[in-house]
Amino acid sequence: MVIEFEKILGDATRAIEEAKNFSDLESVENRLLGRKSGEFSALMKNLGELTPEERRTTGAKLNELKDKITTLLGDRRRALENLAWDKIAETEKIDLSQPPLPERSFGHFHPSTTVQRELEDLFTSMGFMVLDGPELESDYYNFTALNIPETHPARDMQDTFYIKGHSIGDADQWVMRTHTSPVQIRAMQKYGPPLRAVIPGKCFRNEATDVRHEHTFYQMEGIVIDRGINLSHLKGVLETVARKLYGEKTELRMRPKFYPFVEPGINYEVTCFLCEGKGCRLCKQTGWLEIGGAGMIHRNVLKEGGIDHKEYSGFAFGFGLTRLVMLRYGIDDIRLLESGNLKFLAQF
Ligand code: PHE
Repeated sequence: MVIEFEKILGDATRAIEEAKNFSDLESVENRLLGRKSGEFSALMKNLGELTPEERRTTGAKLNELKDKITTLLGDRRRALENLAWDKIAETEKIDLSQPPLPERSFGHFHPSTTVQRELEDLFTSMGFMVLDGPELESDYYNFTALNIPETHPARDMQDTFYIKGHSIGDADQWVMRTHTSPVQIRAMQKYGPPLRAVIPGKCFRNEATDVRHEHTFYQMEGIVIDRGINLSHLKGVLETVARKLYGEKTELRMRPKFYPFVEPGINYEVTCFLCEGKGCRLCKQTGWLEIGGAGMIHRNVLKEGGIDHKEYSGFAFGFGLTRLVMLRYGIDDIRLLESGNLKFLAQF
């Protein structure tokens, strides 16, 4: 058997060089080295016909040939790869001066959340805890424990969402809480004095809705209980918060107002941040913006909270978080806030 090694190598080299793409190269490889029908396998099969001596030398030469062909195939494959990259680089030019694509947007906080968190930061910096309480509340915590008499109009079916057939615990009547004040009692019972806490949260009233009234809104409650707490401490806290929110020149005004759970009770206002007290559309020409209610915690309420009113006193305040949000962003229809309307929300 005469094997023309040179000729085989020459033919193989040419075939490999001529392969224009990966599939050409693959069929050349199959033709030469394929296990079943490749030229090389055919040659190897014939080795059996040789004498042992011839077999050794021819076998070695054949292996050498196979290595050479394998190397040639590898070289050609890499060359084809480079050609492919060149082509990509030619067609896909990179423009280094192109400005970055806009970042993907992940949404953002609701304006009520933004304002709530700012206030939480402010109050925690003054040593207040941030608490929360149930939105579905017993009649006891929402009214009775807060010294709100049976005859109080807030208990009226027209003001309050009573929940029927709710049978958790021993309370016989359940309401969607009408204010955050029930958490005053819960906090006193849980932590005892001294106590400093704010409670932001959702409240509900059975309102005929319009631009200023909504069935669902947010309040923030605050309580401070310790030895020797009096009205001037309340004024100090409210003033600090108002000045932080609306600027150093902001004035605070407290006037008597009745709430069953405080005595004395006040309602407080701040100078309008828009006109600085001169009178404008926002403050309805009065120069003042009404913010919320407050007062010294009534002794009956302290008693319900398990606190000795002879040793401890405290103040409480509550304001409409939703109202602050509307003032801050100039929102003139309260119903937008709970509407889930993305056109509205995307503006913040
Ligand atoms: N809970 C009262 C309201 O909803 C506000 C308030 C809180 C008043 C604490 C006095 C003290 O109107």
